[in-house]
Amino acid sequence: MRLTRLILAASILGLWSCNQNQPAPTPVPTSAEPHRPAFHFSPPEKWMNDPNGMVYYEGEYHLFYQYYPDSTVWGPMHWGHAVSKDLVRWEHLPIALYPDSLGLIFSGSAVVDRNNTSGFGQNGQPPLVAIFTHHNMLAEKQGKLPWQYQSIAYSNNKGRTWTKYAGNPVMPNPHPAFRDFRDPKVVWDAGSKQWVMALAVGDHIQLWGAPNLKNWSHLSNFGKTWGAHGGVWECPDLFPITLEGTQEQRWVLLKSLNPGGPNGGSGTQYFVGNFDGRQFVPDPDFLPSIAPEGSGRAVWLDYGRDNYAGVTWSDVPAADGRRLFIGWMSNWDYAQVVPTETWRSAMTLPRVLTLRKTPAGPRLFSEPVKELETLRGKKTTLAAQTIEGALELPDLSPQPLELMLEIEPTPGATFAIELSNSKGETYRIGYEAAKRQFFSDRTRSGKTTFSEAFARNVHTAPRMTDQGQIKLHLFFDRASAELFADNGATAMTEVFFPNEDYSKIRLVASGGQVKLVKGEAFELSLR
Ligand code: FRU
Repeated sequence: MRLTRLILAASILGLWSCNQNQPAPTPVPTSAEPHRPAFHFSPPEKWMNDPNGMVYYEGEYHLFYQYYPDSTVWGPMHWGHAVSKDLVRWEHLPIALYPDSLGLIFSGSAVVDRNNTSGFGQNGQPPLVAIFTHHNMLAEKQGKLPWQYQSIAYSNNKGRTWTKYAGNPVMPNPHPAFRDFRDPKVVWDAGSKQWVMALAVGDHIQLWGAPNLKNWSHLSNFGKTWGAHGGVWECPDLFPITLEGTQEQRWVLLKSLNPGGPNGGSGTQYFVGNFDGRQFVPDPDFLPSIAPEGSGRAVWLDYGRDNYAGVTWSDVPAADGRRLFIGWMSNWDYAQVVPTETWRSAMTLPRVLTLRKTPAGPRLFSEPVKELETLRGKKTTLAAQTIEGALELPDLSPQPLELMLEIEPTPGATFAIELSNSKGETYRIGYEAAKRQFFSDRTRSGKTTFSEAFARNVHTAPRMTDQGQIKLHLFFDRASAELFADNGATAMTEVFFPNEDYSKIRLVASGGQVKLVKGEAFELSLR
């Protein structure tokens, strides 16, 4: 949370109550506006930030989001709402939660209360319960702590309407109060038979437990001496996950950090460990070389500049078993000034997180959900060959496109996938063998001057694995690129804003040859 955002919102206080009867926003045709993504979730209009309240219930994935319906910059927060049956095609629904006398509606989560522990259920049906932060802007403006506390709301009609609990806030900010006390993410822990909430508290995460989503007790704290601390900790997520190929269950604690991300500004890091119903403790094999005290090292979920505040879906059926993630595809460094006119920002593609053993310890791998294959149209197969210099791909248009390449660069070679347009603007993403790193270069990608922080340098990500051949799985969607390298061991998510959509794609080898072992591409469209 940035002070500028708060000051801005303070100046527009009082506006929020006029939105109550607003109809559902009308979807805008995707191709009509420059930079509007074709298949990423974006709000029909106005400002969006974090994904919130993601929960699966009766065949629908719910996606709520931080939303300000009166402007394209951050302001008094509501929860916007959309549902999807396949995580790809979204139906926009009316705003779910409006600010009220307790404050603005900041980030949080939602769960299916299967055993009706909250008592909000009706007619034998479990309620959906949303747990969110109330942010009291007036108290903040007057400098009167506390101004953040947790509240709940419930729905008995598949999330179509929500009732705020009369006993809010359910978790007041303790005394002495914390400035940052927000973004509750709740999970049912079968082991300790309680709801467990992970909460971001400035420079650490607090865990709280409750039998009924209403009466919360403090369990433990984690993180003051772990991971990166370049900024404020936000949007945590604590969840169990099986270590692939074993019967071992581990716990992952995800959290976002702003600023202090791997390439500057906002970023998301995580820890792998154990949770015993009270405390989260990182596993010794997670960061083997680092003593818990004073560890400044972080393990990042995504090295691109544009994947922030992401968390995972609650209540995905056991038969499916996936841990599904989505993030906000922007960065607080420039989110409010990106050059889109009627709306701001999109979400990342939905991803599956898996925990796999690597030489560095257990690591999360990010891969696009298989439902995205339903977007595939015309397929192009690239012939295996050795690339020296530039290989034009005249049959392919990069907007939008899915590309899968397997390459073997010589030791000094740099390999780039280069998108360009008739204005000579280029975006490059690829791999530099000598440094063993992936890179994303948007320095000449088009509109870049709206923020000095946007295209200051080339962004990089270390290669995580030691396998010889490099697998690149990419998605391009007008204003974004997502790279899932080596089966998801390294992810990079980046946005860009060309003055005209990119229309050409080339594979470029410099400093040495690159063997293209395999290549496939699919045109993508939302049908
Ligand atoms: C993260 C964040 C959250 C907060 C929300 C407010 O981007 O700052 O910590 O709840 O945005 O919109």
